[in-house]
Amino acid sequence: MFVLGGMQGVLGWYMVKSGLVDNPHVSQYRLTAHLIATFLIYAYMFWVALSLLFPPRSAERHPWYGKTLALTALITVTIISGGFVAGLKAGKIYNTFPKMGEYWIPPDFLALEPAWRNFFDNMATVQFDHRILAITTFALIVAYWANLRKSELPARVRRGVNALLHTAVLQVALGISTLLLVVPVLLAATHQAVAMLLFTIALYLVHALRFGNSA
Ligand code: HEM
Repeated sequence: MFVLGGMQGVLGWYMVKSGLVDNPHVSQYRLTAHLIATFLIYAYMFWVALSLLFPPRSAERHPWYGKTLALTALITVTIISGGFVAGLKAGKIYNTFPKMGEYWIPPDFLALEPAWRNFFDNMATVQFDHRILAITTFALIVAYWANLRKSELPARVRRGVNALLHTAVLQVALGISTLLLVVPVLLAATHQAVAMLLFTIALYLVHALRFGNSA
């Protein structure tokens, strides 16, 4: 943890080096690398804390463990795509929802060459990706909740599943509001913080279902 914390300091310096001197802009790649490192260190620390709070009871995994892990991976990808939206200031264009201006798919979607660059460098494509990933994540969280609420679950897991759904509703509402209001800092920062909360709840569920510790 100590070493990772130190490395994050170096990465933060490397990010700031890419801008902020004459203009308040840093590389979207370095900003997102810094964001990923933040979530990795946090995930590691939280996992260690969970293992101390809820010592593993058995090696038997809950049948929903794999799906919970996959959902957590999708939440993580959505978070990474959010880093690119913030890094490119892509929330300052197409400030409408659900359509992007008059379009479902923006006309400049593949404007850059080679095509792969659009997914990291084109504001329209990056915003479009974040929308699609966020809506898919949200829909799967609703389906996850609807399925799990029918099964027999320990109280602690049931609370986690309900919290995941409510936090996802809040996160989507915050994301859409941030976009419609052209990224006020307070809303954007709250959207980032709630992303961490969503990730925390997902990790909590992965841990509870992983170690037969869900009683
Ligand atoms: C599961 C749902 C979502 C998750 C986990 C998520 C996560 C994130 C994260 C982590 C960021 C980066 C924050 C930063 O580094 O400063 C971000 C940025 C952003 N997201 Fe989302 N998001 C979600 C849904 C949405 C939705 C539905 C919209 C609107 C259609 C949206 C619009 C934005 C915008 C405009 C930004 C850029 C804010 C800025 O420039 O600081 N998000 N998102």
